[in-house]
Amino acid sequence: MDIESELELRRSLGRFATGVTVVTCCAADGRPCGITANSFSSVSLDPPLVLWNIAKVSNSLQAYLDAEYFAIHVLTAGQQYMAEHFARTDHTRFNGIEHRISEQGVPILPGVLARFDCRTREIHEGGDHHIIVGEVEAHTAKDGAPLLFFGGEYRTS
Ligand SMILES: Cc1cc2nc3c(=O)[nH]c(=O)nc-3n(C[C@H](O)[C@H](O)[C@H](O)COP(=O)(O)O)c2cc1C
Repeated sequence: MDIESELELRRSLGRFATGVTVVTCCAADGRPCGITANSFSSVSLDPPLVLWNIAKVSNSLQAYLDAEYFAIHVLTAGQQYMAEHFARTDHTRFNGIEHRISEQGVPILPGVLARFDCRTREIHEGGDHHIIVGEVEAHTAKDGAPLLFFGGEYRTS
């Protein structure tokens, strides 16, 4: 696809408003990983499955392909700084970001709108991305306003 066509496709895809998540896992060497992702989607209620996509070119790809467990954090309107932090290229940098490590070794971010603690169930190839399907083992939710992404920009309404 040429650059012009890719930009047009991005523009059309950007018309679909999404929430914003940070997906975390622990790399094989024990380092915490976090990546901003808006490709999150629910898949199935029974069994409880969700998915997200990771770019094959991502520096943290291998960590997510290897991880048995990961957590999806749905951000609130007040957590844009977290989205910006984990969209930078060094996803293993958690300094300045409050977190704890779960029993499964997964970094957990506080104050989010919802969290899905997942066990990796399937990984599919999808063009220049991998589709990671997780079985939800636990989840939490609270009331509040979501952080949104629309037209390539963060929004709160
Ligand atoms: C709002 C937003 C949504 C994103 N969604 C995804 C996503 O679903 N999958 C993905 O691989 N990268 C996504 N990214 C890009 C990553 O957060 C990150 O910027 C990119 O992975 C950086 O490159 P690296 O992983 O090679 O370090 C998104 C970025 C932003 C700002």
